[in-house]
Amino acid sequence: MVKKIMLVILATALLLAVVESLTAQPPGRGPGGRRGGGFSALEGNAPLPANEQERKILSVLEDMDRNQSRGMMNVPQEDGRILRLLTEAIGAKHVVEIGTSNGYSGIWFCLALRTTGGKLTTHDIDEGRASLARENFKRAGVDSMVTLVMGDAHETVTRIKEPIDILFIDADKEGYLDYLTKMLPLVRPGGLILSHNIDMIGRDYIDAITKNPSLETLQFQGVTVTLKKHQGE
Ligand SMILES: C[S@@+](CC[C@H](N)C(=O)[O-])C[C@H]1O[C@@H](n2cnc3c(N)ncnc32)[C@H](O)[C@@H]1O
Repeated sequence: MVKKIMLVILATALLLAVVESLTAQPPGRGPGGRRGGGFSALEGNAPLPANEQERKILSVLEDMDRNQSRGMMNVPQEDGRILRLLTEAIGAKHVVEIGTSNGYSGIWFCLALRTTGGKLTTHDIDEGRASLARENFKRAGVDSMVTLVMGDAHETVTRIKEPIDILFIDADKEGYLDYLTKMLPLVRPGGLILSHNIDMIGRDYIDAITKNPSLETLQFQGVTVTLKKHQGE
C-alpha cells in the first residue's frame, strides 16, 4: 500500500514537471508580465546594437526591463522592437504616444527617431511614472527628442496641431475610440495608428479600425497596426 502511494506521488511529481516545462515562458517575454507571443523560429534573435549610441539605449531598456517593470505595464520587448522597426521604416518625424508610463515604449520609438531626425510627443496623467520617464529619457540620452505632456490625454491631445506620422495608443482602454476620433484627422496619409493590447477592448474601437475603408489594419504580436491609406485612384 505504502509502495502504491509512493508511486502515485512520484508519477504526479513527474507529470507536474512535464507540464511546467511545456508552459514555461519562451525567451523574449516582456517586462511587467505582458507577453507578446513567441518567436520560436527566430530563437536567439536579440536586438543587436549597430553602434555605441544604440548600445547605450538598449542597455537602458534592458535595465528598465529587469529592474523597473513592476507596475509599469510596459509593452513586451518584441512589441517595442516592432514600434522601432515601423517608425524607422516609414521615416516617421512625429510620433505621438498616449500612455508614457516610465518611458519604456517611448525609448524604443527614440531608437528609430534618432535616425529619422524625428521627435516624440508622449502623454501621461501619472506624475510618479512620468518622473521616472524623464530620468530614463535622460540616461538613454534621448531627452532632447521627447516632449512629455502631463494631464488627461483626452484633453491634452486636442492641443496637437501638427501632422502625425505615428499615433501610438496605450492608455485607458475605454478611451481608445475617443483618442482615435480626436487624432485620426491629424495622422498623415501613409501614417500609422498603433494600438496596444486591444484584446480586452470594446467592439466600437475594433469596428472603427476594421470597418473604415480608408484604413487597413493587421495585428503583429500585441501591436495592432492601422495604416491610414493614401487617397487617390
Ligand atoms: C499601459 S501604460 C503605458 C505603457 C507604455 N506605453 C510603455 O509601454 O512603456 C498606460 C499609461 O497610460 C496612462 N494613462 C491612463 N489613462 C490616461 C489618461 N486619461 N491620460 C493620460 N494618460 C493616461 C497611465 O498613467 C499609464 O502610465
